[in-house]
Amino acid sequence: MNTELVITEDGSHTIYLPDLQVTYHSTHGSIQESNHVFINAGLDYIASKHYNPIRIFEMGLGTGLNALLTGKWTVENNIAIDYVAIELFPLPKTEIDTLNYVSILQDKQGFFDQIHNAEWGKEISISPFFNFLKLNTSLLNYSPTEKFDLIYFDAFAPLIQPELWTTEVFITLYNLLNNGGVLTTYCSKSDVRRSMMAAGFTVEKIPGPPGKREMARAIK
Ligand SMILES: C[S@@+](CC[C@H](N)C(=O)[O-])C[C@H]1O[C@@H](n2cnc3c(N)ncnc32)[C@H](O)[C@@H]1O
Repeated sequence: MNTELVITEDGSHTIYLPDLQVTYHSTHGSIQESNHVFINAGLDYIASKHYNPIRIFEMGLGTGLNALLTGKWTVENNIAIDYVAIELFPLPKTEIDTLNYVSILQDKQGFFDQIHNAEWGKEISISPFFNFLKLNTSLLNYSPTEKFDLIYFDAFAPLIQPELWTTEVFITLYNLLNNGGVLTTYCSKSDVRRSMMAAGFTVEKIPGPPGKREMARAIK
């Protein structure tokens, strides 16, 4: 698939897919959005409930930005994280290498390279606080037995991928979570929230990142 590199309003890159007319992140700021939706509304929230280690499942590894921010978070917080990400259409390494996250985020530990150089399907220890596994599979075929505390639900928008925002998918994700676990996503459309609630979640609409009034946090 064709890809184009785009600079978003906070200076960080994202990738645009002209065929689908979609970007991987908000054009108002990739890093800003990932920090707001996944790190602040998800990881900081669950960490305040004293989980350690925290088990995270990411739907859609994409550029690896959420994984990188999470790895950096472990350094700042000294809380261990087991991270599992799935990705059906991995980006070529040549595209990954053009992204400016390493320099903007001063990734001195080399987390970004380790995330992308990791072998698919093989868990690695990126640091004593950050275990990482990536799986080259579809969410629609994913049925692990292990449970998670936090889900970063970062699929493309419902208009682009309606099959990933259904009650059926949210039931699978609900069953993936421990009690008290949280799913966080940038999308707060009412039919999405209805599907989450039909799956059993309690859903909060909370302030979204710049450019988006609201986002959703779903709690088991
Ligand atoms: C919005 S982007 C994710 C951005 C990513 N979290 C990041 O930080 O760059 C959505 C991602 O989901 C992936 N994807 C699409 N359909 C999928 C599926 N059925 N299962 C797993 N991944 C999928 C896409 O290839 C894309 O990388």
